[in-house]
Amino acid sequence: HAERPPVDDRDSYLRELAGCRRCPLWENATQAVPGEGPLDAELMIVGEQPGDQEDLAGRPFVGPAGQLFDEAAEQAGLDRRRAFITNAVKHFKFTPRGKRRIHQSPNSSEISHCRWWLDAERTLVQPKLILGMGGTALESLTGDRKGILKRRGQVEHLSDGTPMFVTVHPSYILRLPDRGLRDEETARFREDLRGALDWLR
Ligand code: URA
Repeated sequence: HAERPPVDDRDSYLRELAGCRRCPLWENATQAVPGEGPLDAELMIVGEQPGDQEDLAGRPFVGPAGQLFDEAAEQAGLDRRRAFITNAVKHFKFTPRGKRRIHQSPNSSEISHCRWWLDAERTLVQPKLILGMGGTALESLTGDRKGILKRRGQVEHLSDGTPMFVTVHPSYILRLPDRGLRDEETARFREDLRGALDWLR
């Protein structure tokens, strides 16, 4: 059976993660981006993987997707600093194009190798609720990424019983082709964040 993670405090978690070689993604990334927030947080927020800016900063959700998240969270009354915010995959995957680094979605093998870290974080934090944002988070947490638009806005239970509130990924909203759609989806996303908070109350 799965080994117990050698990460029973934040220091060993950060140290072990910084040296992670469980899949090849570490080779081209600047650094592993750890989850951030209090270890006694009630809410754990799970995204996909660090983007360009997160890879450089070493912090999750500080780029454009993070800005959308932060604005929606503030309007929903969700204090990001009180949540543990992390990603399903800890290294940035990209292809170089000139000076730019173009985001590539992690594949199932990378997601599954990195689930070891998400499991370690869940053991450390033991959140009351997980907010799963987007297909990669859903695949990592439930093994099934399909039907996210039907699943969003609802609570599912993971195999150990932990409740997970499903929503879309903020980058999905940023990629929508027109302003009106983006505004509508941002409003729905904000409602999902409110829904997750209401569930905790
Ligand atoms: N997208 C994610 O899923 N996570 C980040 O940290 C940044 C962008």
